[in-house]
Amino acid sequence: MRLTRRDMLKLGIAVGGATVLPGGRLLADGGGGGGGGSQELGPSPRTRPFVVELLPGRGLPPIAQPVAPFPTLPDPANCVNVDGTTALHVSGPRVVPANTEFFLIHERPVAHSFHPDLPLNVVWGYDGMVPGPTFIATSGIPQLVRFVNDLPLNDPVGIGEPITAIHRHGGFQGPENDGYPLDTFCTGQSRDYFYPNRPEGGLLQNEHATTWYHDHAIDITGPNVYRGLAGFYLNKNILDTLNELDPPPALGLPSGEFDIGLVIQDKQFDPNGFLVFDNFDHNGFLGDKFLVNGIIQPFLRVARRKYRFRILNGSNARVYQLFLSNGQPFVAIATDSNLLEHPVTVQSFVLAPAERVEVVLDFSRFSLGDELFLVNRLEQDDGRKPGDLVSPGTPLLKFVVSRDAADPSRVPATLLPVTQGPEQLLPQVEVEREFEFERSDGAWVINGEFFDENRVSATPRLGRPEIWTFASGGGWVHPIHVHLSDFFILSVDGQTPPVLQRGRKDTVLIGGDFNREVKILILFDEFLGRYVFHCHNIEHEDMRMMANFETQP
Ligand code: C2O
Ligand code: CU
Ligand code: CU
Repeated sequence: MRLTRRDMLKLGIAVGGATVLPGGRLLADGGGGGGGGSQELGPSPRTRPFVVELLPGRGLPPIAQPVAPFPTLPDPANCVNVDGTTALHVSGPRVVPANTEFFLIHERPVAHSFHPDLPLNVVWGYDGMVPGPTFIATSGIPQLVRFVNDLPLNDPVGIGEPITAIHRHGGFQGPENDGYPLDTFCTGQSRDYFYPNRPEGGLLQNEHATTWYHDHAIDITGPNVYRGLAGFYLNKNILDTLNELDPPPALGLPSGEFDIGLVIQDKQFDPNGFLVFDNFDHNGFLGDKFLVNGIIQPFLRVARRKYRFRILNGSNARVYQLFLSNGQPFVAIATDSNLLEHPVTVQSFVLAPAERVEVVLDFSRFSLGDELFLVNRLEQDDGRKPGDLVSPGTPLLKFVVSRDAADPSRVPATLLPVTQGPEQLLPQVEVEREFEFERSDGAWVINGEFFDENRVSATPRLGRPEIWTFASGGGWVHPIHVHLSDFFILSVDGQTPPVLQRGRKDTVLIGGDFNREVKILILFDEFLGRYVFHCHNIEHEDMRMMANFETQP
């Protein structure tokens, strides 16, 4: 029998820093102490850095292609979760708009090369790819994606469970299409997700740029995402047309092969080079190998021109602070799902799990043969919080300037104008809510309570902006994510937020040395129903640092 996380909660997992499992096995530091469980694992084998090139089909995933429309039957998805729960939202037969694009994606195992110095590893990928195929949503054109679970019932690797729910993180979609953690489907089943692909409230400022999709099954999101179930979901609209040749009002940002998603993750391997994960590390699992798009420390050949990089932290628990090796600043153009109002120049940026920052990098002043590294300088050796900023840090990705190319792309001074910001919304606020994120019994609570699908912790009314305060006690960091709507950060410990937190966000890092308390302004405009907000340190999420909110008319 495999012990689930909910079983462990029932057993009361922290017994003086060690836990006695059924059968008498003693689990050292079963979440009770401050140390990360990953530290008991030996170091991963050596791998030569920067020997694998990111190329289409190897680290640069293909664009998901629509298929012919298929009949949309009621979802058979209603399997029993590892914790015994079943789906909350089941959707009936659907009538979808005539212009809907259809997609069919199979979740399946695949032998993957993380690095040529390691053996092939069987991972789980959307259509057998890590990261999964990149979706592109066009504003005004809905998409229906049928995900089929072809994951094996008996998996020899033992990381993850073949029970899945797909969440489009940052996406604006109805509750039954949001990948609610109980709405799972099992091996042999499928579930259809309908994405309307229109901005919340019909507002241009709510058009999205970079969202992503990943597994969200109750209790097992951590291992399932770690095993490979994540990919990019990009969005295009009249401003961000994904074609740099389009005239204004199109922004003309670098596009096509010059627009690249980079997902950063950390993983751990055993002495034989096989992926390991510690199901009993509830602090936040860390690895000692750094991957970009599924490959350990790859390199990318670039042309002497501007690029758009959509950088996503797809790690379970690690926080990064990213720099360029030559001290050059980044021109940031987006945070999380939304373009910024204006580009911002920053020397570095912190990226917590699930956060995205988009940057434009201009290689035009480099010479052919020059090299540049994307570097993480933030040290972290347990799930509690990152440590010091170190120098020189760990290079994650090497850029090699290797050719010339024309550059018709632009970075306009105004990207996405905000017309309904704090100035307009604050006078309408009538409701404030406070949420305290804390440790309890070696697991994780919000306002003192573990996630319970039947408890609703907030009931915001549609069209009524609210202020929510997120606070962290005990020195731990928590990247807090709210589904359905993007928010404004009003203040960080009472101060104006740092420059990269003044745009829209769907995830905000609280606690540790960063802050004690963050106030956000959030407005839900559409969709009635039950959604979650949670810590995106996925071990904390799986160990119940999650709560429901239910939008009201
Ligand atoms: Cu990225 Cu609720 O998740
Ligand atoms: Cu989300
Ligand atoms: Cu947390």
